[in-house]
Formats: sequence, structure tokens, C-alpha cells
Amino acid sequence: MRFSGLGLLPCLMVTGAALADPSGPVSLPGNGLGPLAIGQPASQRILALWDIDVRADGQGLPAGHGSVRQGEALFGARCAACHGAQGEGASADRLVGGQGSLATGKPVRTVGSFWPHATTLFDYIRRAMPYDAPQSLSADETYALSAYILHLNGILPEEAELDAASLPKVRLPNRDGFTANIRPDVPAHASQAPLTGITAPR
Ligand code: HEC
Repeated sequence: MRFSGLGLLPCLMVTGAALADPSGPVSLPGNGLGPLAIGQPASQRILALWDIDVRADGQGLPAGHGSVRQGEALFGARCAACHGAQGEGASADRLVGGQGSLATGKPVRTVGSFWPHATTLFDYIRRAMPYDAPQSLSADETYALSAYILHLNGILPEEAELDAASLPKVRLPNRDGFTANIRPDVPAHASQAPLTGITAPR
């Protein structure tokens, strides 16, 4: 312990210098709201920009709507370069097909064959795609792209349109294909238990 005071000193000096940096407050890239100074309370508007998760049951889905046909045009322009013209995969994941293959020796895991919830498709596209410009899509565009990918998978008809009410009702083929966590050191239904309910291995 007798070294700690000496060891801390250079660090504190560096930190102090950084805080006193005249180049000004830290800004969040790309939120268009200007600088967010350290210690400045985050406004509801700033929080809303980060609060974009959509849960399996559809909680968090925004207003808006989009159709399979709108999604088809968008997919060609924004997604096909990496995922293939029909979602068959290119440099990035295949998004279509594989239904019925999961229990075989060569399972093909796609949004259509493997994912349990259609709402997760919306959540994923909204936060992460297109890979080269994440979070650049509007809610309408994200509904349309979700609808188109579900259509390519044979889950929605060509004339379908999705919104916050209809998307959670779309049932994916592998919805019931997941099993409970069977690790002996984790209690059953750990995902619903508070963190304190998880026991350490003995
Ligand atoms: C520049 C290339 C690129 C573009 C453009 C792109 N993606 Fe992706 N996409 C990826 C990569 C890479 C991954 C895998 C990311 C990872 O695993 O972290 C991915 C993963 C995905 C997945 C998850 C697939 C799975 O089974 O795990 C979905 C869904 C998806 N993209 C949808 C889209 C949509 C919709 C668009 C158009 C708006 C799009 N992507 C545009 C590269 C791209």
C-alpha cells in the first residue's frame, strides 16, 4: 500500500490535464443535438435516441408501417450488395431459407428457419443494419424490410404490410424450437429470475 500514493500521482495529473483541455465538452457522434457536457443531465430526447430496444412481445415498437413491396425496393438498394438479391447470402449472412434443416446434419440457420421472434428482426435491422450505415433507416423502412424478409421466407404474403400491432402476431416456424437452459449450475427459468437468484457453481 505504501506505493499507491506515488503510483496514483502521475495518473491524477494526466486526468486533470484532460479535464482542463480547452477543446471543450465531449459530444455524442451523430445525434445532431450538439455537445453533451460532462455532468449535464441527459434530456428525454437524448435518452429516446438510445432507447430503441424492441422486445419479443413487441414492446418498444415505434409507430409506422411498411409493406413487402416497399421492402423489396429498399432491400435491393440497401441490403442486396451484402446479403444477395434474394437474401440468399453473399459476403454477409444468408437471410432466407433453411426451414426444416435444423434437425439435419447440415442445419441452415436463417432469420426464417432459426430465429424465434419476428420482432427481433425489426430490432436487429433497426439497430445494426445496413452494416455500413447503422440506424440510418426510418421506422417505416424498417417495417418494410422486415416484411420483405419475412415474405422471402414464405412467412408473409406479397401484399402484406406490417406495423406495431401486426408484427408481434407473426409467428416464426422455430418459435417453439428452443429448450430451457439445462446447465446444472443455473436454476430453471434463470432468465426470469433476478440476478441474485443465480447461484455459483459448488
Ligand atoms: C456492408 C454489408 C452489409 C449491408 C449493406 C447489410 N448487411 Fe446485414 N449483415 C452484414 C453482416 C456483416 C452481418 C453479420 C453481423 C454480425 O454477425 O455481427 C449482417 C447481419 C444481418 C442480419 C442477421 C442475420 C443472422 O441470421 O444473424 C440481418 C437480419 C441483416 N443483416 C439484415 C440486413 C438488412 C435488412 C440490410 C439492408 C437494410 C442489411 N442487412 C444490409 C452486412 C451487411
